Amino acid sequence: MRILVFGTSGQVGWALQRSLAPVGEVVALGRDGAPGLPGDFAQPQALAASVRAVQPQVVVIAAAHTAVDRAESEPALAHTINAEAPAVLAQATAEVGALLVHYSTDYVFDGSGQRPWREDDAPGPLGVYGRTKLAGEEAVRRLCPRHLVLRTSWVHGTRGGNFARTMLRLARERDRLSVVDDQVGAPTGADLLADLTAHMVRATRAQPALCGLYHAAAAGETSWHGYACRVLARARQAGATLRAGPEAVDAVPSSAWPTPARRPLNSRLDTSRLRQAFGLALPDWGAGVDRLVDELEGGNR
Ligand SMILES: NC(=O)c1ccc[n+]([C@@H]2O[C@H](COP(=O)([O-])OP(=O)(O)OC[C@H]3O[C@@H](n4cnc5c(N)ncnc54)[C@H](OP(=O)(O)O)[C@@H]3O)[C@@H](O)[C@H]2O)c1
Repeated sequence: MRILVFGTSGQVGWALQRSLAPVGEVVALGRDGAPGLPGDFAQPQALAASVRAVQPQVVVIAAAHTAVDRAESEPALAHTINAEAPAVLAQATAEVGALLVHYSTDYVFDGSGQRPWREDDAPGPLGVYGRTKLAGEEAVRRLCPRHLVLRTSWVHGTRGGNFARTMLRLARERDRLSVVDDQVGAPTGADLLADLTAHMVRATRAQPALCGLYHAAAAGETSWHGYACRVLARARQAGATLRAGPEAVDAVPSSAWPTPARRPLNSRLDTSRLRQAFGLALPDWGAGVDRLVDELEGGNR
């Protein structure tokens, strides 16, 4: 089986290259592509040529415009990368009869209420990132019948920028940190998403009725404040020298931390559909964060 992966330098794209290696031959394309194989999502029409040339059985889209605040000031580029490029790839993937795997986000929801969002709840994105990601997932579902769309949340990995790495850097530079505590979700490892993807691709190839939209996130929930405290506590255990530990993280409301893009307060995702359909267990978010910190800080627990 040949698997064409776009977005290989990102957190999920990087992890996918390891997880998919035992599933098939992986052709991995970054923004610069490869000779004859375009990979730049800012030039969506060109991407179809890569699918036609590789003739894959599976296409995976891990590239995205993920800069949530910057998207507010460059909505056209965000739309091109997050909506138009997936649409072109969905069409091309359908034409070669392959399975398309695409990632979407908790930010397609408006964050109201307390209940974890289910796949068929009405979306209501609060900003450009969420709106363009929603348009992208809708295009994939409409244009490529054989698809897996995985909505996830608060992704972390050892490669690329993410909240945990920012907290570790700030805790070395400052004596106190302020972190919002009224946005709730589940930090989810890029390695977990990649492993889920590998399993789901194999299962869906054997049983095409499994195609569809799924919420895929670690189990449990926390706030960004709880997440920050967990990161710093684990880093201390791993021997990191920090100026600010978990006791020096102040909980503040989102209103104290204005950003160009509004974020959903309730980012909880109900993952029962995925767990039941694929017979998978999802580990607690804390285990993934501990592992991330151990890897970043060289701990060996
Ligand atoms: N990060 C999160 O917290 C989060 C939460 C929910 C859902 N998701 C979704 O999960 C998926 C993977 O996210 P991630 O965290 O792995 O993202 P990431 O680490 O920010 O990586 C984004 C990837 O997209 C690539 N990219 C950006 N612009 C591109 C362009 N014009 N052409 C080609 N590639 C381009 C980047 O390449 P360069 O390195 O060249 O820029 C990078 O490989 C995305 O669909 C995202 O929307 C992420």
